[in-house]
Amino acid sequence: MQSSIKSVGTYVPDGVLTNFDLEKMVETSDTWIRERTGIKERRIAAPTQTTTDLAVAAAQSALGAAGLRPEDTDLIVLGTSTPDSFFPSGASLVQQQLGAHGPAFDVQAACTGFLYAISIADRFVSSGQARQALVIGAETLTKIINFKDRGTCVVFGDGAGAVVLGPAVNGGGIKSCVLHSDGSGGDLIYVAPGEPGPEGRGHAEIRMDGRKVFRFATQILAEVTLEALAKAGVPLESVRLIVPHQANARIIEAAAKKLGVAPGVMANNIAWYGNTSSASIPLALKDAVVDNRLQPGDHLVLVGFGSGLTWGACVIEWEGAPAGGA
Ligand code: ACO
Repeated sequence: MQSSIKSVGTYVPDGVLTNFDLEKMVETSDTWIRERTGIKERRIAAPTQTTTDLAVAAAQSALGAAGLRPEDTDLIVLGTSTPDSFFPSGASLVQQQLGAHGPAFDVQAACTGFLYAISIADRFVSSGQARQALVIGAETLTKIINFKDRGTCVVFGDGAGAVVLGPAVNGGGIKSCVLHSDGSGGDLIYVAPGEPGPEGRGHAEIRMDGRKVFRFATQILAEVTLEALAKAGVPLESVRLIVPHQANARIIEAAAKKLGVAPGVMANNIAWYGNTSSASIPLALKDAVVDNRLQPGDHLVLVGFGSGLTWGACVIEWEGAPAGGA
């Protein structure tokens, strides 16, 4: 049995932080940010809004789009690096708020979190251990940003995305998933204690060697896409859409070039959300579905990388799925 995406849902906070807002906070410019990253604006959670709140709203959108009730699912896997607390897990809080049942746990693989989460949930569903699973990526990264560090504060944003995973019906669904980790790159992106800032932000902060991560990312996105396609036995030429982690528009363009695919094959909505870590792939997938970029029978690749270093990819034969949410 193979598992398949049954629906996609998203939620982003109402608060918008534009490049022009950032110009007032650090020495930067809208032009620099747009040209170097492709980002125009990102969402920022309200002080009282938690990662769990975002995750619940995205899960409700995914359930609503599929016409499912929370009790129709029996597994929750949440990819996040910014849970509300060390424990209980965000997934348990989401479960309680939804009124769902079954095992629930978090997966921490930074920006590769959604790929790790969907790969694990796929094993549960395809083995019959779960009937239908909620797979969520949710982050409030702006709470661990130093808004005086122009190397990071222009890049990250908040958001959440979710999919319902269930048994494939037409022989489609998830064809392969590959996951990797190399802790020797752990010092390239990490979270360190920070100076507490206003509104509960900044108690910890992301530190990043942007240039080194950039070089790694452009190489690895192409490499792991080809690895996952080889495992699935799907030729690159038959891939309709690649949904990469949205870290930087230039990374996405470089990966397309390395793969030799047209830029239009790559999903790219980074202008509106920035890098939302484990939420970025489902957010980009949702926009692609809404834009009618996928038809049943199409092959797509979800691919990402992040702190760890971690990276991975999943190849999916699309069976058709509704999408909803803000
Ligand atoms: N505004 C204006 N100037 C800036 C800014 C800014 N916001 N940030 C850096 N600069 C300056 C630098 O100081 C530098 O100046 P210098 O040449 O005088 O020294 C110059 O711009 C170029 O700096 P670079 O760091 O080389 O800029 P780059 O083009 O690499 O862009 C960026 C920086 C956007 C961070 C890029 O490196 C990047 O996107 N890296 C990848 C990050 C990533 O993918 N992270 C994902 C993983 S995150 C996770 O897992 C949680």
